Amino acid sequence: MNKLIGLFFSLIILLACSVHSANEKPVFTEGPIIIVDSGLVVSAHLQSSRIGVRILQKGGNAIDAAVATEFALAVCYPEAGNIGGGGFMLIRTPEGKTDVIDYREKAPAKASRNMYLDGSGNVSQGLSTGTHLSSAVPGTVDGMINVHSKYGRLPFSEVIQPAIDLAEKGFPVSERQAEDFNSNRKTFIERNSFRPAFVKDSTWKKGDILIQRDLAETLKRIRDYGRDGFYSGKTARLIAKEMKRGNGIVTEQDLKEYKSVSRIPLNADYRGYRIITVPPPSSGGIILIQLLKMTDPYKLKEWGFNSPETVHLIAEAEKRAFADRSEYLGDPEFVNIPVDQLINKKYLLNRMSTYNEKEATPSENIKPGSPEGYISEETTHYSVIDKYGNAVSATTTLNNTFGNSVVVDSAGFLLNNQMDDFSVKPGFPNMYGLVGGEANSVQPRKRMLSSMSPSMVEKDGKLLLVLGSPGGSTIPTTVFQVIINVLDFGMNIGQAVNAGRFHHQWLPDLISYEKNAIDSVALKKLKSMGYILQERSSIGSVNAIMILPGGKKAGAADKRGNNSSCGY
Ligand code: DON
Repeated sequence: MNKLIGLFFSLIILLACSVHSANEKPVFTEGPIIIVDSGLVVSAHLQSSRIGVRILQKGGNAIDAAVATEFALAVCYPEAGNIGGGGFMLIRTPEGKTDVIDYREKAPAKASRNMYLDGSGNVSQGLSTGTHLSSAVPGTVDGMINVHSKYGRLPFSEVIQPAIDLAEKGFPVSERQAEDFNSNRKTFIERNSFRPAFVKDSTWKKGDILIQRDLAETLKRIRDYGRDGFYSGKTARLIAKEMKRGNGIVTEQDLKEYKSVSRIPLNADYRGYRIITVPPPSSGGIILIQLLKMTDPYKLKEWGFNSPETVHLIAEAEKRAFADRSEYLGDPEFVNIPVDQLINKKYLLNRMSTYNEKEATPSENIKPGSPEGYISEETTHYSVIDKYGNAVSATTTLNNTFGNSVVVDSAGFLLNNQMDDFSVKPGFPNMYGLVGGEANSVQPRKRMLSSMSPSMVEKDGKLLLVLGSPGGSTIPTTVFQVIINVLDFGMNIGQAVNAGRFHHQWLPDLISYEKNAIDSVALKKLKSMGYILQERSSIGSVNAIMILPGGKKAGAADKRGNNSSCGY
């Protein structure tokens, strides 16, 4: 297996190529896995990675490049890139100062606890996912303006301009993208009163050009008026009008009130490394740290990559972490979350006291702990580093692929269906099978719990890894596996990102795994220990950067998507 991964990695390096300017000087290098000296962007699309790198080459820092990449993703990767959604961004300066910008969406003021239930108290199928009512107040634009004003070097107009040009001039769609647009065609037509740019008379083919004029105009308003170009004025009026048409409840007042916030990152030590990640309202960081601390006392390295012992230990830790998620985690501005206690070493060792090394503990026997004193899917992660040493790890989403597929009429962008990330009814699983209760109930102006886990790893105070992933509930378990692939199993970053993955989330009580991620002998052993195992399609899509011993930077774009590394 490892040999195969090694072979794949070598092939991929060979595929990396240099892009030349007219006078034939290499401008930047790109490919799934590349090694460069200066700056690097790894994102879900070639266009957005190139745009980010050009901003670095113009003298912008990693934050300028991240903002340019985020706006570019809203154009070239409408499956998840967005201005109608939200996300989390982790920033680290060359001096090691870290910050999190939380630009997660918020429930509109008219939202209420039982808004997705029918008269008999049952969940109305599809209401929190496929209607205007599934949209929360978008956070991306405020988040980008906020982070840029705090850390950016280049003028905002310069950073957003490439996205405007991309929307206006268009770009060739990839094969996968053509499939995405074609398979969502019926839904786009049903849910919109006009034909969005994503709907063509004929079917999409690889290389067809997608032009988005309305989106270009919206981006220009953001360029010219900043926050007001989106949260008030024409764009806000168009959003409110779209909401009225489809019985949604986001109002101009909700938009005016939206503010992204800075939060203090979470830190944890793991085998001599420092993990830096995001706090609530994402559950991702807490789950990641819980998994690292629960598995820390065990000999993963000796047991080996995805051996029965390794998979069993990790699955047991995952059950316990997701059980805690269901009980304790939500928006910290609404619920009192015992964060320190949940990631406390003693608490977590105690949590694992019921771990039986010989057999699986059924999820029904695992309850949330008692600390003293909580996903077709598409999200997208990008990682950026500049020549100065600033780094950005950001995950952004509309929730589903294309969100709720509603395009704001005349504004050209898709709306999120993030309200489904709330627990719409206690114990009722959301689209990722996640259950929750009071802590993550729907309340006006509350942020819904996320699993997004943009993270970084340091060794001896120096940055080593920048990484994150989409994948709903599988995000923190994916990030966890890539980290241990590097730290425990000694893989290089390309191997670590592309190695097979598995996932357990307490409920449902099963291990899902990618084809070939666990070999047949290990699968048999795990079954005999009491596990239900289910093969599934790919898990996560990691875009990562690793700083190599001599200071060079390796970008690894997951083969599971159209991801691309670009650097110089
Ligand atoms: O915030 C969350 O956890 C989800 N809305 C993320 C959705 C996602 O990752 C879908 N991607 N595959």
